[in-house]
Amino acid sequence: MSDILSVEGLCLSFGGHRVVDNAQFSVETGSITSLIGPNGAGKTTMFNLITGLLTPQAGDVRYRGETLQGLKPFQIARRGIGRTFQDPRVFPDMSVLGNVMVGLRQRGEGPLAALLQRRAVERETQDVKARAEEALDRVGLLDRAGDRAADLSFGEQRFVSIARTLIGRPPLIMMDEPTVGLDKAGLGKLTALLNDLVQRSGTTILVIEHNMDVVMSMSKKIVLLVEGKVMASDTPAEIRKHRNMVEAYLGRRHLAASH
Ligand SMILES: Nc1ncnc2c1ncn2[C@@H]1O[C@H](COP(=O)(O)OP(=O)(O)O)[C@@H](O)[C@H]1O
Ligand SMILES: [Mg+2]
Repeated sequence: MSDILSVEGLCLSFGGHRVVDNAQFSVETGSITSLIGPNGAGKTTMFNLITGLLTPQAGDVRYRGETLQGLKPFQIARRGIGRTFQDPRVFPDMSVLGNVMVGLRQRGEGPLAALLQRRAVERETQDVKARAEEALDRVGLLDRAGDRAADLSFGEQRFVSIARTLIGRPPLIMMDEPTVGLDKAGLGKLTALLNDLVQRSGTTILVIEHNMDVVMSMSKKIVLLVEGKVMASDTPAEIRKHRNMVEAYLGRRHLAASH
């Protein structure tokens, strides 16, 4: 299997402090890779480097063999990398459907391009709407499409933000701690969705995750980041063999069901 993404010697310092330190790992096409590590290890910073929100001081990120260096976040999104953030980031007063439709506009697609051609706009809006409904269906929230986003639970808002990413049909989805704040049902729903995205749509997923049960059960590869350095990058079976090392870095509670 080929690698859809490779991180090569990435470095970033904040005020003289190395937050990402010569980091190297790859993400295999059509599988789930988990990025784990203690708080402050640099996981979110790594995501910001990959998606162009931060610029590395050294190193490269290659997507499908091509460098992403110099590209703006929206250009990287258009290449095919979708992302969800730690907080759901919904617009509370907008409808659930509207919140998902925003996902295409943020990528620079949709009606704006054809502002002067009303019919084209109407057609395009219908298409965007249909895609938003499809994305909502996928996360099990189609029946809430007309509700205000503020009326949804925190967990449901998380799924709205995931649907917003899905509408762009990105081949690679990066998720920052998607299970935080979900109850047991939400957790089951999320892992089923991730597995379904991989199996049914051939999507590749890179996920920052703390729940080691979730990580161990769904990942093809686990990347352990500590103080900005990649300490291990291996299959769950191999990572399990280094349980002591992982426990030392993450603390025991992370190897038990923590959520
Ligand atoms: N914009 C920033 N300016 C200065 N320091 C930052 C900034 N963003 C993150 N950091 C620091 O970088 C380190 C890694 O943070 P982060 O990537 O958020 O870790 P993680 O997601 O693994 O918990 C932390 O020490 C954090 O305080
Ligand atoms: Mg983080």
